Amino acid sequence: IVVPAGLFGAKRRNSAGVDLSDPLVREPLLERLKALEARSWTAKPGLGKGEARSIVSPHDHRITVGTTFEATAADVDRMVRAASDAQIAWDSLGGEKRARLLERAADLYEEHAEEFFSLCTREAGKTLVDGVLEVREAVDFLRFYASEARRQFTRPLPLPGPTGEQNELRLHGRGVIAAIAPWNFPLAIFTGLVSAPLAAGNAVIAKPAGQTPLVAALAIELMHKAGIPRDIVQLAPGSGRVVGGTLTAHPLLSGVVFTGSTETARMINRTLAERDGPIIPFVAETGGQNAMIVDSSALPEQVTRDVISSAFQSAGQRCSALRVLFVQEDVADSMISMISGAMEALTVGDPGDLKTDVGPVIDEAAKKVLDDHIEWLDKNARKICRLDEPKEATNGTFVSPAFYEIESPSQLNQENFGAILHVVRFGNDELDKVVEAINTTGYGLTLGLHSRIDTVRDYVEAHARVGNFYVNRNQIGAVVESQPFGGEGLSGTGPKAGGPHYVARFATERVTCIDT
Ligand code: SER
Repeated sequence: IVVPAGLFGAKRRNSAGVDLSDPLVREPLLERLKALEARSWTAKPGLGKGEARSIVSPHDHRITVGTTFEATAADVDRMVRAASDAQIAWDSLGGEKRARLLERAADLYEEHAEEFFSLCTREAGKTLVDGVLEVREAVDFLRFYASEARRQFTRPLPLPGPTGEQNELRLHGRGVIAAIAPWNFPLAIFTGLVSAPLAAGNAVIAKPAGQTPLVAALAIELMHKAGIPRDIVQLAPGSGRVVGGTLTAHPLLSGVVFTGSTETARMINRTLAERDGPIIPFVAETGGQNAMIVDSSALPEQVTRDVISSAFQSAGQRCSALRVLFVQEDVADSMISMISGAMEALTVGDPGDLKTDVGPVIDEAAKKVLDDHIEWLDKNARKICRLDEPKEATNGTFVSPAFYEIESPSQLNQENFGAILHVVRFGNDELDKVVEAINTTGYGLTLGLHSRIDTVRDYVEAHARVGNFYVNRNQIGAVVESQPFGGEGLSGTGPKAGGPHYVARFATERVTCIDT
């Protein structure tokens, strides 16, 4: 995608990715990825030695991908202090110089893309297709936030005033920001959470998810190689309790940006409320109970394709993923049968194999939650389709795609972060009830609609309280700058990653008034 010049200034080209359909590209790539399997990776804290822990592959726990050294509370304290000391120099560099360093990091990410593909597959259990998408999105974040640094942080904004008075508004970094990242996009979201505050002139302590520190370590290494100073962006691998807890309670911290569960966001919010020091901003993107509405004017083949990708791509481990499908009753039986037919064609298994559509879930804890939900559905809902466990299931954590009919979404009391799709039928004049049911969940992240009726689209757009509304397409895979991403209500504090207002969330506004 070439984003046209206009709204935000200069042309920016989205990352090209890799064409896996071309055998001349694909076959040598697969060989090089095979060779990379011998590599053992490490993640270390920016300061301090840390405590060693092995990272194993979700699809096969006999495979050790590398070792992470988890930061202690004392390490975290030293990192925050060093970051705080270095931050003013980074802020003073200005938007243009920071933009160039972020763009250099983007180029290095592309040069090292294959190492990232390997890590995404082996450490996070992502399919190769998802790994390619990760790198593209991460690169897009770096280049887009670089362009935002240039747009908003290079020159002061002149303000009006009487003759003899010069008024200017400048954006500055706030200080040290904690970026607390999830495992489901261990490179793309991690990079977005780190690079937006950097673009704004902050130092960043980056806490990767406990499951995926190795890919994050390579990302930070490349940022350093690009020329971003070591004290300005530091990796803090470790547990939420020690690293997350110490960071968020630290009196020198100036803000938190987080993607993860609604429950963890509440915990962070409580810590921020109780800590000593200034009151600081908290930007959170959390869960969803995302729906898609399909009415009788929809094109069935297109719905089938989009439901399958929305619900099952990335093993359903996307916060944008479809969880509850509402289908108008006239077309419900035929739609349900087409979707379950298409599900049967999905391959579950080793994420490194290009034939695989659905890889493992991240770990035992995630599997247990999903297995328990399926057990509940077996007793309380109508089973439509459940794929068999793959042969890899004995050594890895797999939850095969499942499809159940339920009476009402009010039966679902939590987000189920995996490849489990629920369907609900609705009557011909019940669109308002469907939208009300969606709003009643309290979540508001993505919503899909398949309908050819403009008044239906307009009604849903006006009444559904969601951050990202997708019409006649799938509802995953937001593209940086084209579909800024983030939700409302239980889904987050609102700011849209990859959007025009995001970077400024990490800035403080200062006005200088000079009597000339
Ligand atoms: N941004 C991702 C998507 O749109 C989800 O986190 O699918």
